[in-house]
Amino acid sequence: MTKNLVAVHDKAKSYDWQFTVGDQSPKYPTRYTIPATGKDPFRMLIRDYVKMEAEKDDRTHGFLDGVLRMGIAKEIQPRFMECMKLTLPDLTNAEFQAVSAAGGLIASVQNQELRQGYQAQMMDEIRHTQLEMSLRDYYVKHWRDPAGWDIAQKALYQHPGGLVSIGLFQNFNTGDPIDCIVNLNICVETAFTNILLVATPQVAVANGDHALATTFLSIQSDEARHMANGYGSIMAVLEDENNVPALNRALERHFWHSHKALDALVGWQAEYGATVRPWSYYDQWQEWVVDDFVGSFIDRLTEFGVRPPERLAKAAEDVRWSHHTVGLALAAMWPLNFWRSDAMRPADFEWFENHYPGWHDAYGGFWDAYLQMAHPSSGRLMLQELPALPPFCQVCQLPCVLPRLDLNEFRLAEWRGSKYALCSEGCEWVFRNWPEAHAGRKQFWERYDGWDLADVILDLGYVRPDGRTLIGQPTLDLERLWTIDDIRAIGYEVKNPLAGL
Ligand code: BEZ
Ligand code: FE
Ligand code: FE
Repeated sequence: MTKNLVAVHDKAKSYDWQFTVGDQSPKYPTRYTIPATGKDPFRMLIRDYVKMEAEKDDRTHGFLDGVLRMGIAKEIQPRFMECMKLTLPDLTNAEFQAVSAAGGLIASVQNQELRQGYQAQMMDEIRHTQLEMSLRDYYVKHWRDPAGWDIAQKALYQHPGGLVSIGLFQNFNTGDPIDCIVNLNICVETAFTNILLVATPQVAVANGDHALATTFLSIQSDEARHMANGYGSIMAVLEDENNVPALNRALERHFWHSHKALDALVGWQAEYGATVRPWSYYDQWQEWVVDDFVGSFIDRLTEFGVRPPERLAKAAEDVRWSHHTVGLALAAMWPLNFWRSDAMRPADFEWFENHYPGWHDAYGGFWDAYLQMAHPSSGRLMLQELPALPPFCQVCQLPCVLPRLDLNEFRLAEWRGSKYALCSEGCEWVFRNWPEAHAGRKQFWERYDGWDLADVILDLGYVRPDGRTLIGQPTLDLERLWTIDDIRAIGYEVKNPLAGL
């Protein structure tokens, strides 16, 4: 920046005034002291920002126009597209929650320089929702099986896999604003978005989806700014050493929760949504989370009292298995999905065993049996083979079978006379420290306790336009699709595993 630009910049940031419209009082109070001035991590004027973003939008939307005319949607591997029906709406939920988060921060953090960054982030996050909706519009019109894409956001908010994203991303805008920054800007955006938005595009391209890769990379170019917002904000807060203990607790909480939710969803998408796998999730995690985030970003903050997450080693261990177990659980409950699942087959077995030694012993038998029940004429569902439905964790909303069925860390916690299921020591620690933030979530199985599975599917609305063929299917190559009548003939009753506990 030239001297003149620095002066213009400083002058712009010196304008500050009390809001005269609306209620400016923050929704949630903060326990931190926040200095009134600090360093604007963004250092850009709005007119330059708008020009830059317009250019990025033009390129991404232009690319979508190109893929459409070239008919590239035909070349996408079906597995990838089907799994995206869950994970892309999950991401759009994150964007909406992040828009609201940035708005909350503008009102809550009384520091004009930091606010400039939050304002740009708010516009970025709106841009992301628009880009993702354009991409989804392309899929719904051009992907060969649009069922599920057409109702995706509505479907998501009722599906356990959608509740995982709500459970994590609502913390962007709910609670102490500095804790929200630790969750959104530090843990989710700095630690975890690189695997999702930089590495996953490689998987997309390897599986024929160039439109997704282009969209995600455009989004990620904004994430760098959101990471800078996080860094600028915590550097301001670290000026007061009394803030350090609360900051470390927030980091512990949100790192753990981000690990649980994002490693499950992103890991599953990257490996179970792929036919061609350019890398293993475990390796990506070592690089982006362990080496980059902890080894570089957090390490530089340790002189101010910041500590690496205590549960880092435990998270790293879980990453070997969690997404495989989530893949198994999502496949076992395939009639309740709003996408078509696919069976893992021998070529997949080989890749998994090579990259995760021991995988075959833990998961191979499940997939063999799964394939045998795939055709409607089998009259069988994997759900019938389970001793009980797994409860969902009250904190991360994942099934309590993690990290692996035989290493299950399920536990119950009591609070105000009720019992709550938790999947791990880390989630129990979060629950016990912030019970009000998590106890209110309803359990999916409780909602449908005693229902016939066919009625659950109808209630969720996960059927095709004929009103009887399921959106969810157990494989991608069935000539005769499963219908509500097939499910009703089986007579499977949902039983809440927590009833009577
Ligand atoms: C975002 O803020 O853009 C974001 C949040 C969660 C996951 C990915 C991106
Ligand atoms: Fe975003
Ligand atoms: Fe963001």
